Amino acid sequence: MLNDSEREGIFKAIFERRDIRSFNGKPISKDKLNNILMAGHHAPSVGFMQPWDFIVIDSQGVKERLAHACHKEIQALSIHYEDEKKTRFLSLKLEGIREAPITICITCDPTRGGGHVIGRNSIPETDILSVACCIQNMWLASYAEGIAMGWVSFYKKTDVREILNIPPHIDPIALISLGYTDFYPTKPILEQVNWERRRNLNNLIHHNAWE
Ligand SMILES: Cc1cc2nc3c(=O)[nH]c(=O)nc-3n(C[C@H](O)[C@H](O)[C@H](O)COP(=O)(O)O)c2cc1C
Repeated sequence: MLNDSEREGIFKAIFERRDIRSFNGKPISKDKLNNILMAGHHAPSVGFMQPWDFIVIDSQGVKERLAHACHKEIQALSIHYEDEKKTRFLSLKLEGIREAPITICITCDPTRGGGHVIGRNSIPETDILSVACCIQNMWLASYAEGIAMGWVSFYKKTDVREILNIPPHIDPIALISLGYTDFYPTKPILEQVNWERRRNLNNLIHHNAWE
């Protein structure tokens, strides 16, 4: 069980953790990186299948190629917006792969654990959900280590598979960039730029049935 200050620490991390896409050049120590990876590896997973792998990228050449793939996708997605909204979308900084000292591609291996993983038999996407738990653990651990993290999902999986030599049956779920930042916002960046805001929790809670 947690004592009061440990409990406060957990809630502080949950409420203050932010998605960050701007990094200064300060490198991350091996110890901190290992702590973050270890936190990811201690996430819950369906049937304890641990479907994740971590491709740790510090090569500037590889980062450039990943950033290029993301920018292609961001341009492609901008077609869904028009006029002022399109200009605003394209002005958002949606990745910081080039600047971040480390980017990690977190993958999902749907075959891990064989054909009969407890729980995954009923809901196959629980393997990807397990990877999401792993990433959230890494996000909170990064916050605890004073390191900023940004989740990047704007890419075509085929591009990332090709750049990182990932086999066809492995799913690249996320690129996460890690580094130090000069500015750690108190609110989500998308809220700060009036793109979206936090919904009222009371409107999302139902009692006994969907109302
Ligand atoms: C599955 C997932 C994918 C995301 N992909 C991106 C992304 O590609 N680019 C980006 O800028 N932020 C991305 N984000 C971060 C969200 O924009 C961010 O979590 C949200 O705006 C709330 O802000 P906060 O994380 O600071 O609370 C992603 C978050 C999640 C959970």
